[in-house]
Amino acid sequence: MGFLMKTQAQYRHGGAPEFDLRRFNLPHKRVCDFSVNLNPLGSPMMVREKWSEFFLAIENYPSIHGDGVTRYYEDRFGIPSRNFLAGNGSTEMIYLVPKVFRFEHVLIVTPSYHDYERASIMAGTKVTRFPLLSKNRFSLSNVNEMIRSLKNSDALWLGRPNNPTGTLMPKEILLELARMFPQKWFIIDEAFIQFVDRWKEQSLLCEEPKPNILIIHSLTKFYALAGLRLGGVVGSAEAISRLRQAKEPWTVNGVAEKIAPLLLQCADYEQEARSLVAKEYKKIFRKLAMLDGITPFPSTANFLLCQWHKTENLDDLMRHLLSRGAYVRDCRNFPGLEEGFFRVGFRAPRENDLLLSLLSSF
Ligand SMILES: Cc1ncc(COP(=O)(O)O)c(C=O)c1O
Repeated sequence: MGFLMKTQAQYRHGGAPEFDLRRFNLPHKRVCDFSVNLNPLGSPMMVREKWSEFFLAIENYPSIHGDGVTRYYEDRFGIPSRNFLAGNGSTEMIYLVPKVFRFEHVLIVTPSYHDYERASIMAGTKVTRFPLLSKNRFSLSNVNEMIRSLKNSDALWLGRPNNPTGTLMPKEILLELARMFPQKWFIIDEAFIQFVDRWKEQSLLCEEPKPNILIIHSLTKFYALAGLRLGGVVGSAEAISRLRQAKEPWTVNGVAEKIAPLLLQCADYEQEARSLVAKEYKKIFRKLAMLDGITPFPSTANFLLCQWHKTENLDDLMRHLLSRGAYVRDCRNFPGLEEGFFRVGFRAPRENDLLLSLLSSF
């Protein structure tokens, strides 16, 4: 318990502008929140239109293992049900995997989503970080170094694309590492993969499941359904069976189960989202790169990591933005990003334009 208290600030998530409004003594108000990284289109219209129909799902128990979500993964990615386990968002799986597999020592590619580390430590696992560096634009510069570090670990955690850097480790390197180390586990979080250009070629989801790779996947980002909690894990039949045996029943709620199969009919929405993200990325990156005091880092996802060096303290920028109604993700609680990094999740074009003008008016 002491560990959790100590690390509350270290593991804080985005999406909480109230915290900084209080910290800067600013009056409570609605802000445009760029600290979250959800689909800028908002949830699919079909879900909103049919919302009243889902009400009935709350009267009964859902299926024990979230069958409606499993159906989405079967039809969308061709993943047989024996290779998939649905969760209450992918977060449930991030925490279940280390509990069940009882790794002794994991290597986490950082800076990355905090919960890989938190879940590992809570399961009693020793953690070593493998830092990606800003001087290499947060991409893997030396595979041999990773191979050396892997020798002392029994599992690797990696985000593809990685949050908050937006970098995507090439699939071929990853598959080669998994082949080189058949006794080690590779836990790959592809929560943002559907935003990536030509994502099917890049993703591990559409590959034949490998004996030592687990893919964590989320539907909450790409369909902007974070409150619904939708996601799961993909792996070999044997690995999934181990996880299923340890999972609590009914963690996927009945409404989520009803909505997941509907997402199979959202091809136009998906295309529109990817085009929008690609267009906004180009515009935002180009404009930020022209600003004095901000360095944007290349990203493959629907968000962008930037470094602030116009003043010594990122708080100067955070206060400037918040007092004008915009909020970005302060990344200083990510180890390796203490020096003024912040993340921008893309929103609608005119909101992005507003942020760009606030950034340039500092
Ligand atoms: C990289 C990454 N993985 C997983 C998650 C958890 O997503 P969810 O539990 O909503 O599926 C998040 C949420 O921010 C994330 O950023």
